[in-house]
Amino acid sequence: MAKLEQEASRRRTFAIISHPDAGKTTLTEKLLLLGGAIRSAGSVKSRKSKKFATSDWMELEKQRGISVTSSVMQFVYDDYKINILDTPGHQDFSEDTYRTLMAVDSVVMIIDAAKGVEAQTLKLFKVCRDRGIPIFTFINKLDRQGKEPLELFEELEEVLGIQTCPVNYPIGMGQSFRGVYDRFKKEIELYDDKREQTLIPADSLETVRERLVQVADEATIDQLEEELLLLEEAGNPFNAEAVKAGKQTLVFFGSAISSFGVPTFLKHFLELAPGPAGRETSKGHVDPADETFSGFIFKIQANMNPAHRDRIAFLRICSGKYEKGMETWLDRTGKPVKLAQPQQFFADSRENVEDAYPGDIVGIYDPGLYQIGDTLCATKDTFNFGKLPTFPPEHFSKVRAKTAMKQKHFIKGIEQLAQEGAVQIYKTERYEEYILGVVGQLQFDVFKYRMEAEYNVDLDIQPMSFHLARWLLNDEIPREALRSTTNMVVHDSQDRPVILFENEFGLNWFMQKNPDIKLAESVI
Ligand code: G4P
Repeated sequence: MAKLEQEASRRRTFAIISHPDAGKTTLTEKLLLLGGAIRSAGSVKSRKSKKFATSDWMELEKQRGISVTSSVMQFVYDDYKINILDTPGHQDFSEDTYRTLMAVDSVVMIIDAAKGVEAQTLKLFKVCRDRGIPIFTFINKLDRQGKEPLELFEELEEVLGIQTCPVNYPIGMGQSFRGVYDRFKKEIELYDDKREQTLIPADSLETVRERLVQVADEATIDQLEEELLLLEEAGNPFNAEAVKAGKQTLVFFGSAISSFGVPTFLKHFLELAPGPAGRETSKGHVDPADETFSGFIFKIQANMNPAHRDRIAFLRICSGKYEKGMETWLDRTGKPVKLAQPQQFFADSRENVEDAYPGDIVGIYDPGLYQIGDTLCATKDTFNFGKLPTFPPEHFSKVRAKTAMKQKHFIKGIEQLAQEGAVQIYKTERYEEYILGVVGQLQFDVFKYRMEAEYNVDLDIQPMSFHLARWLLNDEIPREALRSTTNMVVHDSQDRPVILFENEFGLNWFMQKNPDIKLAESVI
């Protein structure tokens, strides 16, 4: 195998998605510990800052400063090069969270065993499903009493509409949790307080019983036996193609806090998760092993330090090898660009990049040149990976400069930040007032802060009661929409008409009254 192909195939680039508190930080930390990327627990946790208040700008600055390095965490394990991409949740949930999923080759979905599928997981899952990203499920907190495993499979299948295939199966739960049985490797992994990994081969149900008799009670063993049999007979058989297409999820059980099940999960995951795949471009299919270097920008992070005003553009490499000092062309402008100070990210540091391969993420210094979705190629005959989708905002606010004198700066700032992908902007139908649309509330605070720090404009932000945006596909704006008090017609940055609604109820009511109107949730 050629070096380029070999390097690409040992990359595993993935994101961990979950609802807050399911254990994403804990699992990430355990993976980094395994890979030797951090030395002690707590290193990742510190960034989470639970006491974070949105009005505390110092804290905001600190959080965003640190999150540049934690946006991508890279380490080596068992000869695999792993890139974990952070999907910010909690207060800092934003469009970045969604866009990051455009740059990964697979996803790990964490489910809290007691809570099952929760709202934020569902939102992120839908984005993965639409892209056909392979999804691996880690059901966490088995040391506590949770829902029955079979009930959890049913929930995953019904709520998410994905087939499940458990790789391992829990032996008891909560107080009676004794470990897991690995159905693929035919091994028992025992849970003990010393947190040592004990693997016992057991290739038949009789052997499983024999091996467990010392550590588990009769009822636990009976239940395990019964359910393992049921899975053999009625469960979904492992289907590698369905996993690759995101139609079947391989399910693992464990307890991230005690690291239980994490090493075996990682080993299975690295073997079963796909490396970088080929992607479609404006000029045909591009394969990771193609010699011509190419990649796209999926995230731009502004440094909050106003003295520097520097930004980092995160580039996902899709084909070819990146070499220091190489010349590339930006497809959008057709102009050559030198990638300035490219860096790779480790758990708590950044390093200059000498070379990088498909699957890797490099951060490049951005003097204001790049936009989200830009493609860079090491050839004059450029191509692109298509625009990244915009995701429907869920919060809207009217925004204006506090002093009219600053109007010019205000417009420049708002347009630049919208181009960077920090917010979506709309204008009202009649008076052309500006409206911001975001998927996470914190984006408003960051926006206000950056307008002050970078453009010297003090903002007045007035929250609105709308929570849904739908693009109007008809040629004419219906009068009904213009007259209503419960919805509002606005125009997006490309002057396309959009109707804002307060809630699903309002949207449905509108659709019923106007059956000829065609609305879309997103447009490219
Ligand atoms: P998140 O990033 O998805 O929001 O979750 P995080 O890892 O911060 O975990 C949320 C809470 O769940 C934490 O407790 C964490 O210790 C706990 N947790 C994670 N994995 C497990 C597990 O396997 N078993 C049990 N029992 N708990 C787990 P916390 O009390 O909110 O925070 P802390 O005081 O422990 O830091």
